[in-house]
Amino acid sequence: MPKNIKKIGVLTSGGDSPGMNAAIRSVVRACAYHNIECAGIYRGFEGLIDGDFKLMDARSVKGIINKGGTILKTARSKEFRTKEGRQKAFNNLVKAEIEGLVVVGGDGSFTGAMVLNKEFDFPVVGIPGTIDNDIFGTTHTLGFDTALNTVVDAIDKIRDTASSHNRLFFIEVMGRDVGHIALNAGIAGGAEEILIPEEDLGLDRLVDSLNKSRKSGKTSSIVIVAEGDKIGKNIFELKDYVDENMEGYDVRVSVLGHMQRGGAPSCFDRVLASRMGVKAVESLLEGKSNYMVGLLGGKMELTHLDKAIKGKTKINLELLRVSDIMST
Ligand code: F6P
Repeated sequence: MPKNIKKIGVLTSGGDSPGMNAAIRSVVRACAYHNIECAGIYRGFEGLIDGDFKLMDARSVKGIINKGGTILKTARSKEFRTKEGRQKAFNNLVKAEIEGLVVVGGDGSFTGAMVLNKEFDFPVVGIPGTIDNDIFGTTHTLGFDTALNTVVDAIDKIRDTASSHNRLFFIEVMGRDVGHIALNAGIAGGAEEILIPEEDLGLDRLVDSLNKSRKSGKTSSIVIVAEGDKIGKNIFELKDYVDENMEGYDVRVSVLGHMQRGGAPSCFDRVLASRMGVKAVESLLEGKSNYMVGLLGGKMELTHLDKAIKGKTKINLELLRVSDIMST
């Protein structure tokens, strides 16, 4: 049912991801297009508790579609986990006459949005912003594509030095619980092995496989390791194990870390952010709440926040097979 909303708030929360600024821009401009006000909320739920709001008009978001990070800043709020914190946040929303909220973030941020909705019946819509691509109900989260391009660029550079020195490199990429970055960037970067939390290769099989590719004539190798992979305790222990159990390779480790979260968003992420912002605002105006907007089958679709958080994103088995065949 259409709602007579006159003012929407937007915040970014949790780990930042490239495309968040493009999403803020889209929410602000969609509000302007529909002749309603938009308030930017600083530092995620922290800013909601502190009443750190600023009215944003269409011109206030100029020149940010190409910028990484988030102009609204982001935070992980402990106080919002308390009932008192959430009551303060709700009071501030009412005082500022904000009648709907767009939350850009990952599963932790969506959990916060859902609690706000449940306790105060406050309308919320989520935009999935995380490089990990670990949210159910969208084939792509905001920032995933940019992070992949960043990682592939890094792998290409490391391969130059790996092949010059005939070395084996272990490269750790982000993905706390999932291997989407590792699997996709690994294939695109021509990795010999890709280690992801969803599949337990085992140390012996890893060494066997590396030995096999060495015997087949390879003089250097790249192994991509998702940070959530459980094969070794950590990537340095993995390196030590391979060092001890394999001859002929000088082994090095490279942890890519937070550089994967920065940088200008790709064309794909800018378009995705623009579509998601419009869909989020229009969903609130249609009276929809407690949903996440996502990209499914090329279209903008809504998924219940509960499902988006609890649903498991499955690794693409066909990609796993392709990666096996490519490392032959
Ligand atoms: O944004 C998700 C993520 O990149 C994870 O892959 C990683 O484990 C985590 O963020 C690290 O975030 P932080 O250093 O902000 O705690």
